[in-house]
Amino acid sequence: MKGAEIMDKIYRALRVMEKGEEYKRSIVERQVEDLPEGELLIKVRYSSLNYKDALSCVGNKGVTRQYPHTPGIDAAGVVEASEDAAFQEGDEVIVTGYDLGMNTDGGFGEYIRVPAEWAVKRPEGLTLKESMMIGTAGFTATLSVHKLLLTVKKEDGEVLVTGGSGGVATIAAKILAKLGYQVVVSTGKVSTQKDPLMKLGIKDVISREEVEDTRGKPMLKSRWAGVIDTVGGNTLASVLKTVSYNGVVTTCGNVGGDRFESSVYPFILRGITLYGIDSVQCPRDHRVKIWNNLSGSWKPENLPAMTSTVSLEELDQKVTEMLEGKHAGRVVLQHRD
Ligand SMILES: NC(=O)c1ccc[n+]([C@@H]2O[C@H](COP(=O)([O-])OP(=O)(O)OC[C@H]3O[C@@H](n4cnc5c(N)ncnc54)[C@H](OP(=O)(O)O)[C@@H]3O)[C@@H](O)[C@H]2O)c1
Repeated sequence: MKGAEIMDKIYRALRVMEKGEEYKRSIVERQVEDLPEGELLIKVRYSSLNYKDALSCVGNKGVTRQYPHTPGIDAAGVVEASEDAAFQEGDEVIVTGYDLGMNTDGGFGEYIRVPAEWAVKRPEGLTLKESMMIGTAGFTATLSVHKLLLTVKKEDGEVLVTGGSGGVATIAAKILAKLGYQVVVSTGKVSTQKDPLMKLGIKDVISREEVEDTRGKPMLKSRWAGVIDTVGGNTLASVLKTVSYNGVVTTCGNVGGDRFESSVYPFILRGITLYGIDSVQCPRDHRVKIWNNLSGSWKPENLPAMTSTVSLEELDQKVTEMLEGKHAGRVVLQHRD
């Protein structure tokens, strides 16, 4: 397709508009030439819904500073035009992280234009749709599991994953179970999510309350060899007190709050380690390695069972459910052909 023809193309996007103090989202038609500069023009086949997208949809300025804006921190699609020799027209690519969907128009539009540096070629062993079933949530889960495995061995004891029904937690639990770890998942939705979560091959599902400490003691009885915490806030503060000697906690999320109170005691009396996890600026070579893991021996089975697939029209409702903490598993956005 010729340059001018591409620029004139009309596409659809879920757009967020700022109206005074309110943020409204609707499906609008846009033109490819409206997209930001970048070496790769990509026709997006699939995107996925992450908590950060939900925040971008409601005007969280920590995620998106300028509106109107098209969210979508994940995108998988086909290169339609490339100014970088590393990519050809027709290449299937995955873009996650960097500024996509934050202040650069993201995967909730049928086209994106991004720097070539942001794209990874779809690895053998994953379809474009599967890559979005995994998405940033699965990528972050894998980064977290990598860190945990630096220290925690299968025989060390049980590993806890918090925020159990969420995207990051579900995939982290699945990978750990696949690697032979004894995984316990905590959730605020035991009554509805226990059965689906047990199908991940984990050892047990416990309630959110069982994990949360309300007494404020500096240390509690050791219980976990390691913890993948996706919640933050008091959940993170609580698990730091219950990790065993030399145990590891990873932290990636803030759904339960961005502040936590702790003390030096778990660190200086139990020698524990707290790792921060960042998927956004993850260096490119590590990014490729993580996607290769996810397409190979760590690939979670039953991805479709953890995922609901929606159209652009159906996405809005899923955003609301995520903000209300009512959703479970992963949501994939499938654009029109
Ligand atoms: N650092 C990074 O690079 C990175 C990348 C991706 C995601 N994240 C962050 O990781 C977190 C999880 O992401 P996600 O995509 O898995 O989100 P998600 O699908 O919305 O899952 C979050 C889960 O946390 C639990 N939860 C929600 N509100 C809570 C509250 N107030 N207190 C305690 N638990 C609560 C819920 O699970 P239950 O009801 O089952 O308990 C919910 O399903 C988010 O904060 C996200 O921003 C960070």
